[in-house]
Amino acid sequence: MTGRRALRQLAAASPLLLAAGCGPLSSALGSAGPQARGIETLWWLFFWVCVAVYAVVLLWLGYALLHRQRRTAGPDTQADAGREQTAARGLVAWVGGTVAILFALTFASFWTDRGLSSAPAGETIDVEVTANQWWWQVRYLDADPSRSFITANEIHVPVGTFVKLTLRSQDVIHSFWVPNLAGKQDLIPGRENTLAFTAEREGVYRGQCAEFCGLQHANMAIEVVAEPVETFAAWREAQLQPAAEPANEQATRGRDTFLASACVMCHSIRGTVAGGHTAPDLTHLASRRFIAAGTLPMSRGNLGAWIADPQTLKPGNHMPIVGMSADDFQSLLAFLDGLK
Ligand code: CUA
Repeated sequence: MTGRRALRQLAAASPLLLAAGCGPLSSALGSAGPQARGIETLWWLFFWVCVAVYAVVLLWLGYALLHRQRRTAGPDTQADAGREQTAARGLVAWVGGTVAILFALTFASFWTDRGLSSAPAGETIDVEVTANQWWWQVRYLDADPSRSFITANEIHVPVGTFVKLTLRSQDVIHSFWVPNLAGKQDLIPGRENTLAFTAEREGVYRGQCAEFCGLQHANMAIEVVAEPVETFAAWREAQLQPAAEPANEQATRGRDTFLASACVMCHSIRGTVAGGHTAPDLTHLASRRFIAAGTLPMSRGNLGAWIADPQTLKPGNHMPIVGMSADDFQSLLAFLDGLK
């Protein structure tokens, strides 16, 4: 099946070309788990059925054009009646074939859909994802409430473990879509949806809000980091800790600046009095790969650019400019950059 291989390569390469240098891939044709694989298989089934139907129709059309008969004399009623009968039988066969194919595809869709919601026995990780304009709040749930914690825009999961997401929205309808791992699921205000996946391969899988949700819809990315069980356990333990103490005098001054500013109205930092919940939790901000929901890679320089003027980097987002002196600004960056 060289054609199929070539198509696969093309499908795998096109996002690569588009996203060259932009980090992890995001492709529904590169499934990394059973749920995404079910969808990918269904996609190929639809693709090949459509190719086959298209080819048959074109071949038939070509045949008809090549073998069309020119009338030379007047009507030949006996031959016309015979042809009409053949045409009627042909029509019944075509309609029957079409209905059978549509039924088969509908059944395959239904079967794939059923497979998506079946949970395997064994450990499950429960994560609640709340969409906001334009970022994702991620809350890890645990039977022991003291072991629940909140982070943002990045979901870490252990390889091979079933992950159940509960999806909510704070404002408008968004859609959670990490194509390598699962299908799309909407996040609807006042409603709760679920989505499940198991990552079978280590890697960073990029997801994207897939429902237009306002000005910065395109800058509403999420990453799923699938890592070995031990790495995940260590990450989880680290995330459970309160924020790191400032490492030096400058960072300490930065913490004071943060706590005395309007930042605390929206952001939380566990271990401090900052307890706002309308913006991303910053407790372990510097441990994340990106800031502003995939807009900028995490670095002190990018943090500085973001805080200095969030509206230039992501116009329309809800973060205001918080005025402060240059010294306070540098101290604040030293503090935030230390929140590993
Ligand atoms: Cu959120 Cu589009």
